[in-house]
Amino acid sequence: MQGQSSPVVLFLRLCLSHRKVVFVCTLAAALFVTIQWAMIPLDVKHYEGARSERFGAVPGHRTEKPNIVFILADDYGWNDIGYHNSFIRTPNLDRLASEGVKLENYYVQPICSPSREQLMTGRYQIHYGLQHSVIMCDRPHGLPLDEVTLPQRLKENGYSTYMVGKWHLGFFRKEYMPLQRGFERFFGYLTGGEDYWTHRKPSQFSKDPSEFHGLDLRDQDKPVLDQNGTYSTHLFARKAIEMILNHDQSKPMFLYLPFQAVHGPLEAPEEYKRIYEDIDNSLVRTYAAMVTVMDEAVGNVTGALKHRGMWRNTILIFSTGEHFLNGSTGETKPLDGFDVWDTISTGAASPRKEILHNIDPLKPSSPLQSSHKLYGDIFNTSVYAALRSGDWKILTGSQDRGGWKHEGPSHNLFDKPNDPPEKSIWLFNIRSDPEEKKDLSDSHPGIVQDMLIKLAEYNKTAVSPFWPPRDLRANPALHGDLWGPWL
Ligand SMILES: *[C@@H]1O[C@H](CO)[C@@H](O)[C@H](O)[C@H]1NC(C)=O
Ligand SMILES: *[C@@H]1O[C@H](CO)[C@@H](O)[C@H](O)[C@H]1NC(C)=O
Ligand SMILES: *[C@@H]1O[C@H](CO)[C@@H](O)[C@H](O)[C@H]1NC(C)=O
Ligand SMILES: *[C@@H]1O[C@H](CO)[C@@H](O)[C@H](O)[C@H]1NC(C)=O
Ligand SMILES: *[C@@H]1O[C@H](CO)[C@@H](O)[C@H](O)[C@H]1NC(C)=O
Repeated sequence: MQGQSSPVVLFLRLCLSHRKVVFVCTLAAALFVTIQWAMIPLDVKHYEGARSERFGAVPGHRTEKPNIVFILADDYGWNDIGYHNSFIRTPNLDRLASEGVKLENYYVQPICSPSREQLMTGRYQIHYGLQHSVIMCDRPHGLPLDEVTLPQRLKENGYSTYMVGKWHLGFFRKEYMPLQRGFERFFGYLTGGEDYWTHRKPSQFSKDPSEFHGLDLRDQDKPVLDQNGTYSTHLFARKAIEMILNHDQSKPMFLYLPFQAVHGPLEAPEEYKRIYEDIDNSLVRTYAAMVTVMDEAVGNVTGALKHRGMWRNTILIFSTGEHFLNGSTGETKPLDGFDVWDTISTGAASPRKEILHNIDPLKPSSPLQSSHKLYGDIFNTSVYAALRSGDWKILTGSQDRGGWKHEGPSHNLFDKPNDPPEKSIWLFNIRSDPEEKKDLSDSHPGIVQDMLIKLAEYNKTAVSPFWPPRDLRANPALHGDLWGPWL
């Protein structure tokens, strides 16, 4: 799926076709690629265990509010999990999936901040001006304060709200930070990516000399200075477990656990790399090790829930959408999310038929070809956008589509799509061509036209993108070597 951009394409293609690994560290932009947390299920092809006892005990029939544990893996490939026949070992995730419901056809945003924005608000980013790129650590930028967040609502519904891991929703002013956006407890980091051991951004792998350097790790709003050398997956699992063990069970718990793993930089402890000794490609070996540590962390966290007797009333979500959480939505702005609980719990048809991936007028546009004058009046097809409706998906603008990587842990066969540079419309039938290989835009102009009409309708509801310039006052050197609020 192309989402609004190439990273997602890369992702799904690589995933669907095979494996994805190395690209994470090759593109600067890919540092921000978020994956495997799924925003909005389109339809559930495989729902297994949906009527199991455990599922029978949750919404619909319950008397007490369930605990909710939402685990987000970052940049994690579709095919990099045991039950998709990966060579990567994920016994805990496989077991959880076999006891739960697998969503095999869902879409994510291709980059970090928008994924988290949608999760936190249930709304498309065109509706609050964050349709361009991610929230950069040195720009005064964040999830607008008039957006109501998921933890805020859950707190009002009686939940204790905890977060451990990666925020990436803004911090230039204190009001944008996790504790001010609905979380009672926070342990983690604020920017988009850093070193797994030193917790400094950028990591040692940064090649950009103009980047600011600083420590980015906090407990509540206080910097954590004594964890240099603790690998973040271990650290975050331990902190999540501490929160579970200290949780007052007279209240339901919401634990949001967006791991740093398995986002770049590619770093893993040696003892986990040894599991993959037989893999020649060291990048692949490291990535596989990162996944396995995360899998172990998930096993430890679920172990703690069991230990405290909380498991029987816990909904655990690993990389899937949140909108079945339709308790009281109270006063939010109009939601773009759907209540998909029936789909998940009983296999009913999904109420969602359409997903707007994005319309980003700030992305470099493609030159408009004369042949596209056919559609030019409906929606300016040189603008970067993507929409899925039913089985169809349209992409417009300058997409720089990635490629397809082939099976196998050590070889790097890679197909590139053969698109002329001025091409600016693609149409795919996702059901028959989930890897988006066969462009049907020339043979189905009527469908292209219908999809562009829909894009134009969405575009009418968009607000202008907000993209502030870099602010030198963000430099951690001015704030005790720490990333943190500067205004
Ligand atoms: C972190 O630990 C490493 C290894 O002990 C050391 O080389 C480095 O200087 C430490 N960094 C900081 C910022 O303390
Ligand atoms: C999981 O728990 C075991 C036992 O306490 C510990 O040795 C291991 O490091 C933990 N793994 C992670 C990833 O936190
Ligand atoms: C939540 O549930 C109410 C009542 O069933 C319904 O009217 C509303 O549309 C639902 N909201 C979402 C976002 O699903
Ligand atoms: C289409 O969008 C591009 C990029 O924003 C712009 O340069 C061009 O002028 C627009 N074309 C029309 C016909 O509005
Ligand atoms: C989207 O709407 C804006 C505001 O009405 C308009 O200026 C822009 O051209 C539209 N974009 C596209 C891609 O048609």
